[in-house]
Amino acid sequence: MIDALDGLEGVVAAETILSEVDGAVGRLTIRGHSLDALAGRVSYEAVVRLLLGGFFPDLPQDVRPALGAARAEVFAETRAIDAALERLTPTEAMRALTARIADGEDLGAALRLIAAPAVFTTAVLRRQAREAPLAPDPALGHAADILRMLRGRPAAAAEAGGLDTYLVTVSDHGLNASTFAARVVASTRAGLTSAVLAGVSALKGPLHGGAPGPVIEMLDAIGRPDNARAWLEAALDRGDRLMGFGHRIYRVRDPRADALKRAVRTLIEGSNALPGRLAFAEAVEQAALGILKDRKPDRSLETNVEFYTALLLEALAIPPSAFTCVFAMGRVAGWIAHAREQLRAGRLIRPQSRYVGEVPRAAA
Ligand code: CMC
Repeated sequence: MIDALDGLEGVVAAETILSEVDGAVGRLTIRGHSLDALAGRVSYEAVVRLLLGGFFPDLPQDVRPALGAARAEVFAETRAIDAALERLTPTEAMRALTARIADGEDLGAALRLIAAPAVFTTAVLRRQAREAPLAPDPALGHAADILRMLRGRPAAAAEAGGLDTYLVTVSDHGLNASTFAARVVASTRAGLTSAVLAGVSALKGPLHGGAPGPVIEMLDAIGRPDNARAWLEAALDRGDRLMGFGHRIYRVRDPRADALKRAVRTLIEGSNALPGRLAFAEAVEQAALGILKDRKPDRSLETNVEFYTALLLEALAIPPSAFTCVFAMGRVAGWIAHAREQLRAGRLIRPQSRYVGEVPRAAA
């Protein structure tokens, strides 16, 4: 009998040319480029081009105008925001609007889906704040337009750069839970919208992309550096997990945490926003790492991407309720590339389960 593997740990379920997560040394490679060569150096549109290359015959060399046009195209769907949709969380509302995009497999469908989390999240947040959604500006870069649609005024170049770095940093990450979910759905040939909806649904959980909102709650509850130890110990005594720490694959520090910490530093130092916030967060991080080491000496629990995601998105004045949506704005390119790659492999993903329930009476 085959043993069931809890959490599929160690199982290789796909071959991919898209990204590699080396958990032993803390290295992320995206289509042959190290994260350090991409984050803060190239635009999100360039990484979209990188990830989708070879999966769509008509992919243009410069994706920026086509993605801008796709943002403008999907904006029409924001007319469907009604009172019931406004009562949902931003992630649920963004997912509901994304579901209005017809399933397809062509480049147009892919670009509409990459545009969708950006356009729908900003529209929902504005409606929830009793403001009219702002139409996209197709001439802007994706990150700059997201901040403009959210705030109603142009973002400073440093802020657009900070968000661009974030979107690039989270664009793909091996066979994480949401990407696996997207590949399973793609393998049934359901279409790209269905694959992306599976990705959003898996991302939303607090063990995956739902962690950075609670990181801000944790920092706010701790309040002062000298409260950190007692607060963190009490949380662990209650059986809580510390958000922003631990990872299934990384046994060392998540390289994305450092890329984002650099981006936060640049942003905060350049603007004088939130003075002391980074130093406070670092103090909490050090306290958490020390306590986790004491409590779980056999398990290497390090800082993951979500800790500095929270600080970066906070510095960009994005509300914590929308942090998961912003994660989706970046990861959607990865989901789509993986979905296309899965289709190319051609096989339905269909593992087995081992029955451990009651046997029928007659057979007993
Ligand atoms: N705080 C406290 N204890 C932890 C934490 C944590 N953040 N992470 C793991 N542990 C403990 C866990 O309780 C378990 O202890 P025990 O063996 O006594 O039950 C042990 O460490 C091993 O944990 P695990 O559940 O086997 O680890 P996993 O590989 O299944 O989980 C994880 C990985 C990310 C879900 C987990 O570390 C966690 O819950 N972290 C907090 C949530 C978080 O930050 N999520 C964002 C993940 S990074 C974004 C992404 O790429 O998705």
